Amino acid sequence: MERIVIDGGFPLSGNITIGGAKNSAVALIPAALLADGISTIKNVPNITDRDALFEIVRLLNCKIEQNDKIIKIDTSNLENKLIPQQLSVKLRASYYFMGVLLSKYKHVEIYFPGGCNIGSRPIDLHLKGFKALGAKITKKKHKYILDAEELKGTTINLDFASVGATINIMFAATLAKGTTIIKNAAKEVELINIMDFLNKMGAKISGAGTDTITIEGVEKLHGTEIEVIPDRIEAGTYILMGALLGDNLTINGIIPDHNKALFAELDKMGVSYKLNTSSITLSKCENLKPTNIITQVYPGFPTDLNQPMGVLLTQANGVSTMEETIWENRIGHYPSLQKMGANIELKGNKATIIGKTELKGTEINATDLRAGAALIVAGLIAKGTTTIYDIDYILRGYENIINKLSNVGAKIKIEKI
Ligand code: EPZ
Repeated sequence: MERIVIDGGFPLSGNITIGGAKNSAVALIPAALLADGISTIKNVPNITDRDALFEIVRLLNCKIEQNDKIIKIDTSNLENKLIPQQLSVKLRASYYFMGVLLSKYKHVEIYFPGGCNIGSRPIDLHLKGFKALGAKITKKKHKYILDAEELKGTTINLDFASVGATINIMFAATLAKGTTIIKNAAKEVELINIMDFLNKMGAKISGAGTDTITIEGVEKLHGTEIEVIPDRIEAGTYILMGALLGDNLTINGIIPDHNKALFAELDKMGVSYKLNTSSITLSKCENLKPTNIITQVYPGFPTDLNQPMGVLLTQANGVSTMEETIWENRIGHYPSLQKMGANIELKGNKATIIGKTELKGTEINATDLRAGAALIVAGLIAKGTTTIYDIDYILRGYENIINKLSNVGAKIKIEKI
């Protein structure tokens, strides 16, 4: 077991480089199994979700060669096997093996996916898409069995623009017979990264990044290479730290376009920053104005920045609101922030945050990945020492966060307990 200990109040200056997007990498790694042969994925982030996926890829008898952030996956001896509970529950993204193995073998056996406790996290939209393509789905206790004589292209209207369902249906349709059209598709930028990978393998997909994606089924796919796009949520988290504690903090390796919704809120709050083509430099904003935020699907304000942004709102002079519309339970961080001194009134998924309040260091627990990130942001600005437990959640999605922060002046460390 480990905990993170932070002595708050130290300015952050210097350079932080953003890694590959977790929510892209966790789809690209399973996607590599669609190809016959060797695929190379570059800029894979050093996060525990990556390692959990490697365990499943190796279980399916694929060879993985890793050279820092470059991984090669060889599917020459790929074997379709049951994906056991102890592996699939480690992360939500294990469900991508459903679309991949259904596409390639017309048969999948996998246990329920895991992931953070931010909601019931159903996969009904994924299954609806698989059924529409011709799959038969059996559920035995906690295990899904998917079978299809053949997969035939069709039009699928998503009730909700689900990121995971859009990606999974794209996987299943890539080797289907005929054309599939996904309507009300998720428009998150990670979809474009995944479409590019599949098209470089020989797939025929268009429209990723829009609400309509067209997939023309092909016979087979060959190995290729792709680079993971920068992680817009990691970038946003460090940008928020810059607005709170920056002293000319520069965050490198970003795609500014991917964080437009965050910049719109920072502009409203009076945060000044210098944007370059692939970096941003900012310093602590002395007089933060309040704002009202509602999370939306892309390109709206991202649900994954709800929690870290909540900490910035505690430092605004006035009353702000943060309303979560994507997940049922993205409120795990509020009790800890209140324990630190934040003035927050919670009504369902809408928080009213009254600032500016001084936060005091104390002992707190991470409840999920982005709640954990918010607690780190809070610890960095709090007076005194903050100790955060259950930090595995955080290490799932933020590569080398202790080093990245220590290198720019934060007093932060991981302790074994
Ligand atoms: C992806 O989750 C991300 N995870 C999430 O990031 C992110 O919050 C989410 O997209 C929204 O942007 C990964 O990419 C691994 P959804 P996903 O399907 O695909 C409901 C993080 O912190 N829904 O778009 O699981 C669902 O319950 C993580 O990095 C159904 O009802 O999200 C939720 O309320 C957290 N049925 C909403 O849709 C389904 O079949 C959004 O889910 C699927 C989803």
